[in-house]
Amino acid sequence: MKAVTLKQPGGLDNLQLQDTPAPGEPGPGEIRVRIHASSLNFHDYAVVAGMIPTEEGRIPMSDGAGVVEAVGEGVEEFAVGDAVVSTFFPHWLEGPARVGNFATTPGDGVDGYAREQVIHPVEWFTHQPKGYSHAESATLTTAGLTAWRALVVDGGLKAGDSVLVLGTGGVSIFALQFARMMGARVIATSSSDAKIERLKELGAEHTLNYKNEPEWGKKVKELTNGRGVDHVIEVGGPGTLPQSIDAVRIGGHIALIGILTGREGEIPTAKLMAKQARLQGLIVGSRRNQQEMIRAIDATDMHPVIDRRFSLEDIADAFRYEEAGRHFGKICLEF
Ligand SMILES: NC(=O)c1ccc[n+]([C@@H]2O[C@H](COP(=O)([O-])OP(=O)(O)OC[C@H]3O[C@@H](n4cnc5c(N)ncnc54)[C@H](OP(=O)(O)O)[C@@H]3O)[C@@H](O)[C@H]2O)c1
Repeated sequence: MKAVTLKQPGGLDNLQLQDTPAPGEPGPGEIRVRIHASSLNFHDYAVVAGMIPTEEGRIPMSDGAGVVEAVGEGVEEFAVGDAVVSTFFPHWLEGPARVGNFATTPGDGVDGYAREQVIHPVEWFTHQPKGYSHAESATLTTAGLTAWRALVVDGGLKAGDSVLVLGTGGVSIFALQFARMMGARVIATSSSDAKIERLKELGAEHTLNYKNEPEWGKKVKELTNGRGVDHVIEVGGPGTLPQSIDAVRIGGHIALIGILTGREGEIPTAKLMAKQARLQGLIVGSRRNQQEMIRAIDATDMHPVIDRRFSLEDIADAFRYEEAGRHFGKICLEF
């Protein structure tokens, strides 16, 4: 079977497509899955670009979707032919967060899904949403579930709430879509006027170009009649958090998700305290969270926005495309 491996110290030129032995038969409680798609996240980029050191020969990609080819003894949840999608934390099945690193995350601490076949315990997968392609399903593992958890699980999103999403990457576009799906209002930002047109088409009520409007936090407050938004999908980190604190309402919720502007910085803590806002760090979610998100997707006609698809052989080009920041929503690998 074909698999992509990463030579250390990483870097897109160190991604190598190789022929490797097929995985054999699944043992008790395991399934063998033919992987047909993956999707790119900033985290995967950090691994392949060498920003996160991994083991020599690591198979990258946290997201994987495909078809069950064989089931081991005792497997009842899945049958041969079922369409399945991987989970980000294969050992965090349900309940409160209890994983604080990437040691068990496919494509980082263990081998991921840039390969044609895998054998794993059933808990490493869930069913796909009905009517989804493998590429669509592969967008859910990381970006979809992060947005879902931020808004619904941790944020307690309700119809009529207001949500601020930053930029037009995978997590933010999912958050916009989930917010609209659940009857919330969305304010969205981007550095590109062309992308802003697309944000409006997806249902953003207000849009801001954060390059032209560096004090966008105050602007968001104005747009909400001085109240501020109920939820902020904070993917920028230290460079955007001060504006997000301006933008959130008193007692609102900021889901601290990303580090697009860096890992450390100055935060206006007194302002955050005065806002009495809830600032919550999070990493993706549990298998149960993923099943509940998929149940919600099944009940609606929500489909993710896929900007571009690449073949497995062109994985380095796919990451170069992500690196250039021209994408809107998700970039997928199909094979
Ligand atoms: N904690 C978690 O569980 C979790 C899960 C997934 C992702 N993340 C993190 O969340 C961040 C986004 O991930 P992603 O996969 O969605 O990335 P992505 O698809 O690569 O998104 C990148 C987009 O973010 C926007 N952006 C960049 N700098 C910005 C800034 N200063 N202010 C506002 N927007 C900015 C840009 O949008 P425009 O082109 O429209 O300006 C850019 O296209 C990353 O830091 C990633 O590590 C965390």
